[in-house]
Amino acid sequence: MKNVILIGFMGVGKGSVAREVAQNSSYMTIDTDDLIESMQNKKIKKIFEQEGEKYFRSLEKKVALWLEKSVSNTLISTGGGFYKQKNLKKIATVVFLDSPFDEIIKRIKKHPNAENKLKKRPLLQDLQKAKELYDLRRPEYLKLSDIVIDVTKKSAQECAKELLKKVKKHA
Ligand code: S3P
Repeated sequence: MKNVILIGFMGVGKGSVAREVAQNSSYMTIDTDDLIESMQNKKIKKIFEQEGEKYFRSLEKKVALWLEKSVSNTLISTGGGFYKQKNLKKIATVVFLDSPFDEIIKRIKKHPNAENKLKKRPLLQDLQKAKELYDLRRPEYLKLSDIVIDVTKKSAQECAKELLKKVKKHA
């Protein structure tokens, strides 16, 4: 089984979909932000504050190289900027979770833990800037993807089902 990697903007639901897939299939799942946090023993927010974004991106690169060399049969969820790693296509089948910017923000705000969801993401502090980043990234996500899933108004369960079906067809 080839790896599957989930890309998409912050808050689109990569982690929730990954967990749902792992609970209903033989895929294991890991998350690149979780790997970085445990490697540094620090939250992403702190890494951005103390070492800066450039350093964070170098940690993402380290993770990407490890994934390519050492991981298989796994569904990998990623931070929203991880798609920039040059070896993405070598790591996995790339699945883009797509949704309009306003829907993503609505989705985060509806979450019972919304405040923390917003606070922990350094690049979501200024929504105007985040929208600009979204507009810049969306065409790049689309270009890189082997499979696109429109997650708008769908539950994680529905998205996971669609993902497994599309991945099977793509293989
Ligand atoms: C980032 C997204 C975050 C995290 C970091 C940078 C980005 O992950 O990796 O704050 O550049 O879009 P989520 O997509 O899980 O929020």
